[in-house]
Amino acid sequence: MQPDLSTLLRQALNELDYGQQPATLYDPIRYIMGLGGKRLRPLLTLLGGQLFTDDLAPLVKPALATEVFHNFTLVHDDLMDQAPLRRGQPTVHEQWNASTAILSGDVMLVRAYELLFENVPLAVLPQVLRRFSQTAAEVCEGQQWDMNFETDSAVTIPQYLDMIRLKTAVLLGFALELGATLAGAGADDAEHLRQFGTDIGLAFQLRDDLLDVYGDAATFGKRVGGDIISDKKTYLLLMTQAQASPAQQATLASYLGQPVRDADAKVRAVRAVYDELHIRPQTEALINDYFQAALQHLARVAAPAARKQPLHHLALQLMDRES
Ligand code: IPE
Ligand code: IPE
Ligand code: MG
Ligand code: MG
Ligand code: MG
Repeated sequence: MQPDLSTLLRQALNELDYGQQPATLYDPIRYIMGLGGKRLRPLLTLLGGQLFTDDLAPLVKPALATEVFHNFTLVHDDLMDQAPLRRGQPTVHEQWNASTAILSGDVMLVRAYELLFENVPLAVLPQVLRRFSQTAAEVCEGQQWDMNFETDSAVTIPQYLDMIRLKTAVLLGFALELGATLAGAGADDAEHLRQFGTDIGLAFQLRDDLLDVYGDAATFGKRVGGDIISDKKTYLLLMTQAQASPAQQATLASYLGQPVRDADAKVRAVRAVYDELHIRPQTEALINDYFQAALQHLARVAAPAARKQPLHHLALQLMDRES
């Protein structure tokens, strides 16, 4: 994915100073940031900016704010989801403890704000901070819905789609909008890019839900089956519940909302029902719908087609990613 920009981002991330003492506060930040990941959000900021300018240097530090913020959400999300693995390594709350995950995560949110207010030109700073704050609050709203839904047996597909829009898609939309704004794009173009990012984000989270069931732990880097174990109301599960026969409903009911005795058995049984109902291709079809909707927004951005090519290519790569 965009080797030169990815290298630029990795170097800039390596140079960030989060703080020194107490080491028990800052080491976990260096740990999670050092585990890498795709660094998709800052890449989107740079690619969004590249549509309108050749001088990307002033965009790099603000772009990193989205990555530091994203990693903050992962540290807290892993605690909430009781996830053991992230990027193939123990999660922060496993490596240290829950209090560390909370406080190191908190200071990452602060550092994300600092990266913006120290590096965004004054002329657009209020707008950028307002939009970032709005986005950050929406991510929290999505996370709360996601948790509420674990114990709600009447979640609808529109509710699920709104939940993933909030917890995941709005940040991808913001990352692109940020790049456009910093590169001097007009409001219409910034808005189309935001909507392109939101649609890509919806597809991205659907793909994440698919990988959570069908991924290979070695490449996915997270515990496969985690969503099934914790009764997450993913698109896969909601589609299954809508289509299940009485026998399949009975199988689901024997696991959902019940204490987990054998996690692997639960994952196998629920996945078998998904397979019987061909839920995987149905999910892939919706991913493709969002991809197509995203492209329509990209088409409406007033920039040369050649400059849009990297964004188009990245979006394509994300649709069938394995990690
Ligand atoms: C994981 O995000 C959380 C979701 C929104 C699904 P990424 O898949 O972008 O994670 P990294 O940063 O590449 O590890
Ligand atoms: C990710 O949702 C949303 C945020 C981190 C804000 P998930 O819980 O599905 O993400 P993973 O699968 O743990 O990365
Ligand atoms: Mg999670
Ligand atoms: Mg989660
Ligand atoms: Mg997930």
